[in-house]
Amino acid sequence: MTRSLLKLSDLTKADIHAILNKADQLKFEQKNGIEHRVLAGKTLAMIFSKSSTRTRVSFEVGMFQLGGHALFLSANDLQIGRGEPVEDTARVMFRYVDGIMIRTFAQQEVEDLAVHSGLPVINGLTDYAHPCQTLADLMTIREHFAYLEGLNACYIGDGNNVCNSFVVGSILCDMNITVACPKGHEPHPDVLKWAGDKVKITHDPREAAENADVLYTDVWSSMGQESDARTRMEALSKYQINADLMKLASPDAIVQHCLPAHRGEEITADVFDAHSEAIFTEAENRLHAQKAVMAILMG
Ligand code: CP
Ligand code: NVA
Repeated sequence: MTRSLLKLSDLTKADIHAILNKADQLKFEQKNGIEHRVLAGKTLAMIFSKSSTRTRVSFEVGMFQLGGHALFLSANDLQIGRGEPVEDTARVMFRYVDGIMIRTFAQQEVEDLAVHSGLPVINGLTDYAHPCQTLADLMTIREHFAYLEGLNACYIGDGNNVCNSFVVGSILCDMNITVACPKGHEPHPDVLKWAGDKVKITHDPREAAENADVLYTDVWSSMGQESDARTRMEALSKYQINADLMKLASPDAIVQHCLPAHRGEEITADVFDAHSEAIFTEAENRLHAQKAVMAILMG
């Protein structure tokens, strides 16, 4: 296992299964009142340059349940927001805390923080990747089907951070993955290069949904892309998970959405409601999957 969780392509299939197994165990223990204070006395710094509900709350609650402490640090209120170099921030953090979770724009910032702090660093979302989300997604899908290998997964919509990580995670877990997106909205070139012929890219959402066991989508405009929202909406309008598309999928298919969702855009309200149990379990599993990551990296 790597020292940090910066992006999923740094992990092996065995690493991912080790995290998922630990997550299942911690979920069971939490539900059954079995304490697991394996990070007693440890502190996680959580640096946020973007908004968050799930990531912030699940990391903070997770750290508490593991017996440790989490510090919420808005980048705006840190000197980093006034130009203090990441390198110096990292070196200071090393003197105070045992791990860092960061949500920011540039993937390079997360990678630099890991190099200069020498601490376990967890990527809580960048423009490039959202590895914690994919771990929770894989956990949810595995809970539902009891296995991952050979499942047909598709991602419909913008080839963004969530898509990038989901493609890598699906391939590492031997799922068949198809992405349906408009031209110019494909996953990141590095992901396409890493994936090679293991990812199928189509511009036809119906082709992707055909016989799918898992249908995944995310917002058309990610944080930081608000000014382009109108153009993006036009480009992506056909890439919606709706009742027509669901008819093509496997009869026991599940829908996943990282949330927040925009009903009537990337997913219709009826499909969201019909699959809300799986979607909110996915949100819950952020807690268990991230506790596993922290227990493994910081324990
Ligand atoms: N899915 C997810 O990361 O949600 P938040 O932006 O609320 O953290
Ligand atoms: N792609 C979205 C995910 C939010 C959790 C974004 O980056 O805003």
